[in-house]
Amino acid sequence: MKSSALAHPNIALIKYWGRSTNQPSYLNIPTNDSISMTKETIPNANSEIELITQTTIEFSESYNEDTGFLQTEGGDIQFNEVQMERIKKVVDALRASAKVDLKFKMISKNMFPTAAGLASSASAFAALATCASDALNLGLNKRELSMYARLGSGSASRSIHGGFVRWNKGDSHETSFAEQICECNEFNIAAIIALINRGKKEVSSDVGINYAHTSIFNPVKIKKSEEQAIEVLKAIREDDFRTVGSISEKNCLYMHSVMMTSDPPLFYWNPNTLKVIRQVVNTRRQFFQNHDLIKKGIQEKGKKGLECYFTVDAGPNIHCLCRNEDIEKTANMLCEIGISETDMVRVRPSVEGSRVVKEHLF
Ligand code: PMV
Repeated sequence: MKSSALAHPNIALIKYWGRSTNQPSYLNIPTNDSISMTKETIPNANSEIELITQTTIEFSESYNEDTGFLQTEGGDIQFNEVQMERIKKVVDALRASAKVDLKFKMISKNMFPTAAGLASSASAFAALATCASDALNLGLNKRELSMYARLGSGSASRSIHGGFVRWNKGDSHETSFAEQICECNEFNIAAIIALINRGKKEVSSDVGINYAHTSIFNPVKIKKSEEQAIEVLKAIREDDFRTVGSISEKNCLYMHSVMMTSDPPLFYWNPNTLKVIRQVVNTRRQFFQNHDLIKKGIQEKGKKGLECYFTVDAGPNIHCLCRNEDIEKTANMLCEIGISETDMVRVRPSVEGSRVVKEHLF
């Protein structure tokens, strides 16, 4: 009863930030639908980083307690009580479903430096749900797996799938699940993650999300997000980068407005986040000014500016969204404001979602 799985993190284009108050909070039922891109590093993009988590779990009579470890270059680190509680939320639900009460050992490993500001609970819980259900021989489909991954971390439900994904908020454990809306090659988009801070954030999303309802802007954000999720879904399917980019950027700002005005207030940005935001907005403005001139036949195409957008999750690091063919121009734009190559991670939509693999970590 041993299995291993891989999973990628995802970046939300329409964000999840708030749990439904009509359901027990441990179920992580969201207040609105969200949409994301599961992401992988672009091969050969001179980066050592691979956005993958690998997890191995074994259930056995030989274990008399549940244990979990994070494998790092400096050795295995045992998960603390709070982390084990989250891990057990997923595994307990799967054990109950399989009617198994054996204890487990699990080891998880991120294929990127753990302190790189890239650690993601999404890939971790997607990989965990996938290998645990396989070890327990539950034969779950992706939709069911996304429900179990959600119990560990809401965003993990979306990392079960590759490409572009919608998490339907639903109103119960059975109706709140993620599904793929488009394969990776159906929408032309790429991104550069600018690593502004590699450290651990002060307030985890799991905690910060509890304050969303205290912001006076939250009801508006929920209502708008619902409308934006419909618009972005349509735009992704139509390969309409402009609509996806501009709505994603607005949705990110709505979420951060809620964060900054909640009680206690949450400020996930730092000055360099704002520096990148300004650079993206200015570079885009140039592109559109240029674009207007091109339309009037005055200027040659492509000399100035770039069509790019930004989005930021619960932390200071920022994703600059662009078309695939503009990835190097985006890198140059970041370089202009002092972001070094080593702090850039070039990503694209992942081909695959979470999957079982043969290689075990122990
Ligand atoms: O499910 P969590 O705890 O990883 O929260 C995710 C929150 C955001 O990353 C800010 C938004 C999102 O939808 O991924």
